[in-house]
Amino acid sequence: MKTFYVTTPIYYSNGIPHIGHAYASFIADVIAKHRRNLGYEVKFSTGVDENSQKVVEKAAEAKMEIMEYCDSMAAKHQAVWDGLGITYTDFVRTTTPEHKTFVQGVLQKSFDNGDIYLGEYEGLYCVGCEAFKKPSDLTEDGLCPDHKKKPDVIKEQNYFFRLSKYEARLKKLFAENPDFIFPRSRGNEVVAFIEEGLEDFSISREGSTFGIPLPFDKNHVTYVWYDALFNYVSACQNGDERFWPADVHVVGKDIIRFHAIFWPAMLLSAGYALPKNIVTTGYFTIDGQKISKSLGNAIDPVEFCGQYPKELLLLYLLTSFPIGQDGDFSVEQAVNAFNAKLANNLGNLLNRFLVLSLKEGGKIDGETDAELAAKETAFVETFQKAMASYDLRSALESAFEFADALNKFVDTKKPWDKEAVGVVDTLHTVGEGLRAIAVCLMPFFPEKMSEMLDRMGLVSQRERLLAGKYDEVISEKTAFEVKEKGEPLFQRIA
Ligand code: MSP
Repeated sequence: MKTFYVTTPIYYSNGIPHIGHAYASFIADVIAKHRRNLGYEVKFSTGVDENSQKVVEKAAEAKMEIMEYCDSMAAKHQAVWDGLGITYTDFVRTTTPEHKTFVQGVLQKSFDNGDIYLGEYEGLYCVGCEAFKKPSDLTEDGLCPDHKKKPDVIKEQNYFFRLSKYEARLKKLFAENPDFIFPRSRGNEVVAFIEEGLEDFSISREGSTFGIPLPFDKNHVTYVWYDALFNYVSACQNGDERFWPADVHVVGKDIIRFHAIFWPAMLLSAGYALPKNIVTTGYFTIDGQKISKSLGNAIDPVEFCGQYPKELLLLYLLTSFPIGQDGDFSVEQAVNAFNAKLANNLGNLLNRFLVLSLKEGGKIDGETDAELAAKETAFVETFQKAMASYDLRSALESAFEFADALNKFVDTKKPWDKEAVGVVDTLHTVGEGLRAIAVCLMPFFPEKMSEMLDRMGLVSQRERLLAGKYDEVISEKTAFEVKEKGEPLFQRIA
């Protein structure tokens, strides 16, 4: 069986995921579901980044033992992803012995081949970012622009990773794989950064008690990012080695340099193959402000999905902001998008098909209109191409454009009119189009698209699609059988 491996970032476990985090997980989940329908065996990892100073501080605030705190937060994270129906196969925790042993192994390899060395470091460290900052990264008042806090001045002996050694190989990687990062604009930023010259970076902290001790110097623990990035490979043990290299990492723009520069170099040093693609997401703001645990304006995605139709959040996030660009979140716009695309356009088209088919006795078998059949072929092609390049927004929009064309076709044919000719052929054409849309959009809205196929009498197609038989199902022309109209699939929000 063909394999496919998709990952989300592992989220810091000192807070509960908000809609910004849900965005990355939704994208990875749609990609995973899509590949399963195409017949791939999918590994989908997510998890929590635990070996961080922030966790130590939060546990102390909560008057809990560190591990007790970590356990409770990991359970909360899992509850969020389960509540949103995210179909991860692996939930990584960086405090597990499997992960720690693995990370010590790769550290040792890079140490042995001379890529890790001891040096003196002086720098400005932002605990919020868990990263050293250059003075030019800070605001005029010397604050971290994201966390609005003054970074700590740190002077210590650190182990360094010889990133400078990999500069030429990284340049070559980007030159040879212009589509390594989606969208390309984010890749161009990374290339520009490499062009400025790469400096070695510190990979250890001295004297910390929480974290993974360096195997060659127990007075130091690994830098949180070194350990965190390797979660993607440490999750591929015990028979899952065949999933590495990952097909795609989904990451936010704030952590793209770690993933596109540090990570490939660390992998090359430890002797691993490189991931095939990285999808970079932009940032949402609420009223122009960064959504963050520290600023306290985070929306709980599970609560939000309980308040509104389940499909609303994913639809809004994936259609309103092109992947890679920033956006401002608005509930009003989310409702408008739902009403326009799902309730009015697609929902209404299905409703028309069901009502009119019942008038014709429920069984619909006829000729498909040639022009619409050509549009369907073009839609399916565009959709699959967009999905293959992780352009989920274009994929979704192509489905709504096709639904729009089908609605216009119905408007022209007026199958409800006493004088209308070829009513069954018209309905067959619409049914055929709806079928293709439901098959394609299954990874985005699995419950509703399943129900749509079932209501059209296509239970077998639905079952085979979900068993990975997309190729067989998409090209299978079929008759339809409608038994009842049912409630509107997507109820308009007043
Ligand atoms: N622990 C690191 C990732 C390590 S991966 C090896 C981390 N965690 S995080 O919890 O701070 O962020 C996880 C992801 O959520 C990042 O991709 C980040 O871009 C994303 N988002 C956090 N806030 C966001 C928004 N406001 N909007 C969109 N995405 C946001 O970084």
